[in-house]
Amino acid sequence: MKRLKGKNAVITGAASGVGRAASLLFAREGAAIACVDIDAEMGQETVDMVRAEGGDAVFIATDLADPAAIDDMARACIGWRSVIHVLFNNAAIAARGEFEDIKLGDWDRQMAVNLTAPFLCSQKLLPALKAANGAAIIHHGSIDGVLGNPTLVAYSASKGGLQPLTHVMGYWLAPHGIRVNCINSGALRESKQGIPVRLNVDNRAGKPMSDVQRRATPMARPGFVEEAADVALYLACDESSYVNGSVVTLDGGRTGLTPGTF
Ligand SMILES: NC(=O)c1ccc[n+]([C@@H]2O[C@H](COP(=O)([O-])OP(=O)(O)OC[C@H]3O[C@@H](n4cnc5c(N)ncnc54)[C@H](O)[C@@H]3O)[C@@H](O)[C@H]2O)c1
Repeated sequence: MKRLKGKNAVITGAASGVGRAASLLFAREGAAIACVDIDAEMGQETVDMVRAEGGDAVFIATDLADPAAIDDMARACIGWRSVIHVLFNNAAIAARGEFEDIKLGDWDRQMAVNLTAPFLCSQKLLPALKAANGAAIIHHGSIDGVLGNPTLVAYSASKGGLQPLTHVMGYWLAPHGIRVNCINSGALRESKQGIPVRLNVDNRAGKPMSDVQRRATPMARPGFVEEAADVALYLACDESSYVNGSVVTLDGGRTGLTPGTF
């Protein structure tokens, strides 16, 4: 039995990385997918990949930093399907830099894409999510949003905001049959299917996990984007029917340990 049979899912950041992996996986599990991304070429490529496997997908080009574009995206999604069962708020950007050098524009854009967009996409798609009589919203957070990564200041702050947002949305939307959860991922560097992972390209493009990160991770390896897509699938489907307002850590055990003790 397919776990998302007959369901409609909106996935942001679907052009690469976890978003592409989730688009493929959710479609294999029977969902129709609206792939949302700023990158039209690679977003359409995701759609083509889903269709090549016999799945159902559309691409909706959107700059999630722009609230007006989110309005248009929500209208397009609701025009596509009046009922939406799953929203995976997965898109994000990350800019490295030292605290003193951070430009307000860079700060604002990371906040807009990583924190404001999950809020706005959820709010604007609410009519279709309510109509599902049982829907799931999944935010994609990061372990950097729990303690703070000094090289990713705005990114850490934006991801940190997703945690209380998850809890309070779990409160407000439960009466509408909508569960809200968040995945806090650690280092996702690779794909079992050759999907590119572009976040922080400088840091990730083909580079192995650093020794420091490997030592800090009990499983001593980075995660695959498919492993994040698997958690998203669990949170999207009925198997997680009592999971709401929760943050799931996906980091190979890294943040379970007190820093400096091993
Ligand atoms: N890769 C990791 O190590 C890692 C670690 C922790 C959390 N995450 C989270 O996983 C999620 C997916 O990231 P990924 O690693 O697959 O990276 P990725 O860069 O491959 O995917 C992110 C996607 O978001 C899209 N995007 C960026 N800005 C956008 C905008 N303004 N409007 C619409 N789309 C936009 C990009 O085009 C891209 O397709 C992110 O939320 C990220 O924070 C990733």
